[in-house]
Amino acid sequence: MSSTLGLPVDPEFTFVPKAAPLAREAGAKLREFLAQGVATEYKGDVDLVTVADRTVEAYLQDALLTTFPSHGIYGEEGTRDRLDAEYRWYIDPLDGTTNFAHGFPHFCVSMGLEHRATGLAPEHDGPIVAGVIYDPMRDELFTAERGKGAFLNGKPIHVSSVPELGEALVATGFPSRKRHENPNIHFYQEFTLRSHGVRRAGSAALDLAYVACGRMDAFWEFGLNPWDTAAGFLLVEEAGGMVTGFDGAYRRLDSREILASNQLIHHEMLGFFLDMFAGRNLAPLPSAAEYAARRAARDDAASAKP
Ligand code: IPD
Ligand code: CA
Ligand code: CA
Repeated sequence: MSSTLGLPVDPEFTFVPKAAPLAREAGAKLREFLAQGVATEYKGDVDLVTVADRTVEAYLQDALLTTFPSHGIYGEEGTRDRLDAEYRWYIDPLDGTTNFAHGFPHFCVSMGLEHRATGLAPEHDGPIVAGVIYDPMRDELFTAERGKGAFLNGKPIHVSSVPELGEALVATGFPSRKRHENPNIHFYQEFTLRSHGVRRAGSAALDLAYVACGRMDAFWEFGLNPWDTAAGFLLVEEAGGMVTGFDGAYRRLDSREILASNQLIHHEMLGFFLDMFAGRNLAPLPSAAEYAARRAARDDAASAKP
């Protein structure tokens, strides 16, 4: 959509104009925390909880309740406010905490709005009607509302037109806790061998935003939560992409597994998930021990040469 002057303009958004400034302000706070150097609490082995996570969630809780007094909030850091409201924000004040804690400049604020019609049973999802993801380090604001398209800094975005996995750049992520219970490293290996590459950048919300704007062609992950995916889910759909579970079925907001793509490679990726879960058609790869044995044999042969 463009103005009469040819400049990009947002469409007639309902929620984004009021929510986006809050995401920007939250992002500005993250930038300030980063500049100051935040005290990091280590919980468990690699679960990094920063003061910034909590402070920015508290800011968003206050700001959202002031801006949208009738809305509810469900936040990663524990906010559970007015969960009987017709509209509910899923917020991740800092998606990419591990990056942030290490000073790796790739993280964002993510806010997705669910519309829960009166009488909707608690176990049912309403549609996500608005999504805002803000990357404060690149000053990139991703926005979408249902039926109104997806935008990056006010310009319409679209998923890529890459037609097959062999030409695709794909993304995934790993949980910060209990990684030994997660099989994703096997999927990481297979998709690395079958695509242009797999990026593991450390922010699921930005991964989804990148699929929406065509920087990535697909994203999958095993153990996500609604605050990670609500906004990105809508962005991908509004940008022409597809979001399902690993079996291709409708994905609930609290489904842990997600496959998002440009739609064109979705079917092919689902086939690989089927194969992977059945242990079929895995690409052969030498083990480290086999590789070391071959290398030693090569070295022996070379040193035996006169
Ligand atoms: C994490 C990031 C990461 C993903 C993890 C998430 P957090 O969120 O999105 O990319 O791989 O599964 O938990 O903890 O940084 O908000
Ligand atoms: Ca997160
Ligand atoms: Ca977080």
